[in-house]
Amino acid sequence: MKGHIFNLLEKFIIEVSDEMVYEEILDSCNFITQEPFVRPGTYPDEDLNELVEKTVERLGLTPKDAHFAFGKWVFPHLVKIAPPEALNHDNPKDLLLALDHIHTVELKKVIPDAQPPRFYCTDTGPDSLDMIYSSARGMFDLVDGVLASVEEYYSTKIEYIKEFDHSGDFTTCTYKLTFATH
Ligand code: HEM
Repeated sequence: MKGHIFNLLEKFIIEVSDEMVYEEILDSCNFITQEPFVRPGTYPDEDLNELVEKTVERLGLTPKDAHFAFGKWVFPHLVKIAPPEALNHDNPKDLLLALDHIHTVELKKVIPDAQPPRFYCTDTGPDSLDMIYSSARGMFDLVDGVLASVEEYYSTKIEYIKEFDHSGDFTTCTYKLTFATH
């Protein structure tokens, strides 16, 4: 995962606890990476998972709640990474329809070695959308958190059910989304 995400996680942990606690969490980790995580770097997912695990232990959260909370917090920060013209959407459905392009094309312009998730969308009606989230990382609770933030960002209620598919090399999930009309 990109150093940028490590740096955002660091900022999040410090905001919900403090610098001392973050240093203690770092000290308790046995990262594969020996140097500090810097924004343009790319680091093993194992290091990110360890940082999340140790944070969860230290702060007494469940992994699900931690992923959700970080997803909810991180969306406004992610928005700042992409070129503004790539985020020119005035409703959540149009943003989500563009999500795969944002991750695989726009993001690659600024972070060429990113290994982003895929989002395959099918437009199912004026106020609905099926979105398949596909990533070997399987960060489903993070997606839930980001969607909660997208809902707030656009002041538009988003309801959905999730259908998991375990048949492939890794589990994917279809988000069957419905957007409130104003
Ligand atoms: C709109 C602006 C967005 C930008 C600029 C952005 C950018 C990024 C970046 C930089 C990464 C890390 C990729 C890597 O380390 O190789 C990432 C990962 C991720 N993004 Fe986004 N993102 C955006 C929106 C969203 C939204 C709306 C969702 C969910 C609905 C989402 C879900 C995820 C997930 C789950 C990951 C974790 C990696 C994985 O699953 O493989 N992102 N994104």
